[in-house]
Amino acid sequence: MDKLVIQGRKRLKGEVKISGAKNAALPVMVASLLASGENVVNRVPNLADVKTMGKLLVNLGAGFRYEPGRAVINTEKLVGYTAPYDLVKTMRASVLVIGPLLARTGMAKVSLPGGCAIGARPINLHLMGLKKMGAEIDLEEGYVIARCKRLRGDVIYFDIPTVTGTENIMMAASLAEGTTILENAAKEPEVVDLANALSAMGAKIRGAGESIIEIKGVNGLRPLSHTIIPDRVETGTFMTIAGMTGGDLLIKDCRPDHNDALITKLRESGVIIETMENNTALRAFGPDRPSARDIKTMPYPGFPTDMQAQFMTLMSISNGTSTIRETIFENRFMHVAEIKRMGADISIEGGIATVRGVTKLKGADVMATDLRASASLIVAGLGAEGKTTIHRLYHLDRGYERIEEKLRAIGAVVDRQRDVL
Ligand code: EPU
Repeated sequence: MDKLVIQGRKRLKGEVKISGAKNAALPVMVASLLASGENVVNRVPNLADVKTMGKLLVNLGAGFRYEPGRAVINTEKLVGYTAPYDLVKTMRASVLVIGPLLARTGMAKVSLPGGCAIGARPINLHLMGLKKMGAEIDLEEGYVIARCKRLRGDVIYFDIPTVTGTENIMMAASLAEGTTILENAAKEPEVVDLANALSAMGAKIRGAGESIIEIKGVNGLRPLSHTIIPDRVETGTFMTIAGMTGGDLLIKDCRPDHNDALITKLRESGVIIETMENNTALRAFGPDRPSARDIKTMPYPGFPTDMQAQFMTLMSISNGTSTIRETIFENRFMHVAEIKRMGADISIEGGIATVRGVTKLKGADVMATDLRASASLIVAGLGAEGKTTIHRLYHLDRGYERIEEKLRAIGAVVDRQRDVL
């Protein structure tokens, strides 16, 4: 296991290039299961989750090759239909294979994901949608076993907008008989990216990015060739780093318009953000000390839960009191105890964290509990006085590509070391 050692309080300055979005790359890789042939996905980040997804596709009989920046997936022969416990427990996005497998082969056996570090995260809405489309679903020994002849379109209403749920059903519906209408669908940019990839394969999808999506099923799809959108959470993490370190960062190859809610909150707290290069880059200048701002996480286009921990870290050194409400996941405050070890003054009641700004954080040994908590600890360590050591770095490697290299290029002093913990 690795740890990251950070010497904080450097004013970070320079250029960062954003990688492809993990949460868009994973579903688009899965979409390749819908067609027979060689699929090419460009701008796929080199991440632990991408490797896990590659393993899962190989497990299903696909060929998988990762070349720098792209994944090549051959889906001519699919021999398996199982997503085993080992893979699902390391990466919940594995559940995305249910819809495509059912649609293409009529059978899927997928380990039911348990709870995880950020909440219970059930998949009842994915299964409800597939049942409505005619799938028979059983639970045996912790596995969801889904079978169908040909899925048929229906009207599917999601009680809660679910990102991977919308993606799962959108993929299944692309090859179903008739029209599927998704109501209260997720509107995240990653859903739109998947819809664009599916449309290029020949799917008939209207309304992605809005709350009602209509999918007219077709009899077959062609293999995909698609370039993934920039990672809005990586972009947001670097903007927050600029805010935390009083830095001056030029963030390139990004989509500022995918981060409107965060940009508004960062600007209000004193971070100067200029979008440039035709909405493909932005410049973020941090203030001496940020002002306190409240946030409430919401489905897109609301403030993203995936940026809550990093924003809270910034608020921990603000000049006031900030209220942070987490409404998406019930257990996404695990980073709080760690940031408190660095001197932050935060109390939690229910889903609300009250952050009373302190003048500075101090370096400490801290433990990463999930991917975005790890990112928040990096933000904290970069702004803190002295040395911060982040243990359990494997969480970070699931979602941030070449993070130390990118941080060093803007002047951070960071070192990855083997950990004995
Ligand atoms: N939910 C249900 N039933 C379902 C599905 C979801 O009750 O069948 C609930 C969840 O428990 C949660 C809410 O609905 O309270 C929204 O969850 P959603 O399904 O949208 O989350 P997800 O699809 O499992 C994706 C991202 C997460 C991101 C969330 C919210 C991927 C692979 N994962 O998860 O990303 O936090 O949407 O935006 O796209 C991360 O990258 O660190 C990460 C956790």
